[in-house]
Amino acid sequence: MGATIATATGAPHAAILGIGAYRPRRVVPNSAVVDAIDSSDEWIQQRSGIKTRRWADQDESVQMMSVEASRIALERAGLDARQIDCIVVATVSHLLQTPAVATAIAHELGTDQAAAFDISAACSGFCHGIALASDFVRAGSARHVLVIGVERLTDILDLTDRGTAFIFADGAGAAVVGPSDTPGIGPVVWGSDGEQFDLIRQREDWRDVVGSPEAPGSGVMPHLVMQGNPVFRWASFAMAKIGQQALDRAGITLDDLDVFVPHQANMRIIDAMARAMKLPAHVRIARDIADQGNTSAASVPLALDRMIEEGEARSGDTALLIAFGAGLSYAAQVVRVP
Ligand code: COA
Repeated sequence: MGATIATATGAPHAAILGIGAYRPRRVVPNSAVVDAIDSSDEWIQQRSGIKTRRWADQDESVQMMSVEASRIALERAGLDARQIDCIVVATVSHLLQTPAVATAIAHELGTDQAAAFDISAACSGFCHGIALASDFVRAGSARHVLVIGVERLTDILDLTDRGTAFIFADGAGAAVVGPSDTPGIGPVVWGSDGEQFDLIRQREDWRDVVGSPEAPGSGVMPHLVMQGNPVFRWASFAMAKIGQQALDRAGITLDDLDVFVPHQANMRIIDAMARAMKLPAHVRIARDIADQGNTSAASVPLALDRMIEEGEARSGDTALLIAFGAGLSYAAQVVRVP
């Protein structure tokens, strides 16, 4: 028989200790995108609720936006970067296959000890990261975890594609997860539906782009494409059930809920989910998409940060986070607002 292996012991509970956000400087109105897609400000507002979006300038890289958001989250958590044991970065727009941007972020923040890695779960990446962080803290794998959701989707956006050009945008959000005496992060409800793999995807394979000397590739930057209609139907109805399951698993009723922070995919999806879940009038709903656009992995932390900044979400409030997107993949959990 082999030797007994010791196991780690973590904190009784985990909670979000601080949130930070970085919004790119450039505000892009619908009028700037309509010509290339033969659309109109009215159509975009009516179908998506988006009035303006934030697009990153050259210097606003995935790393730069992440570091800025993280510094704010760390300050609000009252922690120094050297107290972070693990950094999880959710992104699909860090354009190096390897290494992970997380290690560069750790270095720039001033810690070269933290475990640091990226995860790829598209728009649901941040909620996946919060689930991992909560379990790391409770299992003793890490004491403080920095979870970052960041995208520079404009790098992979086809500005002539009618289904995506007006929707996607750039930004970063970060959360510090750490030990807590009381439960601050409920059980995650997560899953995937790979049968729908092609609904939202990078159109070109990197090999098609580069090719080989005998068969040169297209040389075209891979773009994000989406079959909007089925995504809309799936997100509006299936995801409301996942939200309810996350409430049930946390032992929370709709009456206990203060804040609803769904992925900022599209205003009509947000409204359809709120209706399908029968959210009571007192529940405050994140609607960051109107002037931020859909920032995929960054959308939930950006939306929560804004609600905190504007006093719509207060410290101690009970919030339902739910995110969904390419894969298809999804994750939801109830959290206490820091
Ligand atoms: N501007 C103007 N008209 C457009 C358009 C655009 N960008 N894109 C499509 N249209 C037109 C079509 O040509 C079509 O016209 P027709 O009726 O004369 O044939 C009509 O609008 C409907 O096209 P359709 O593709 O069925 O659009 P839709 O009603 O599904 O709306 C979306 C498109 C993208 C707004 C919608 O599918 C959607 O919101 N999907 C969810 C997307 C989302 O949130 N994804 C994020 C998940 S992470």
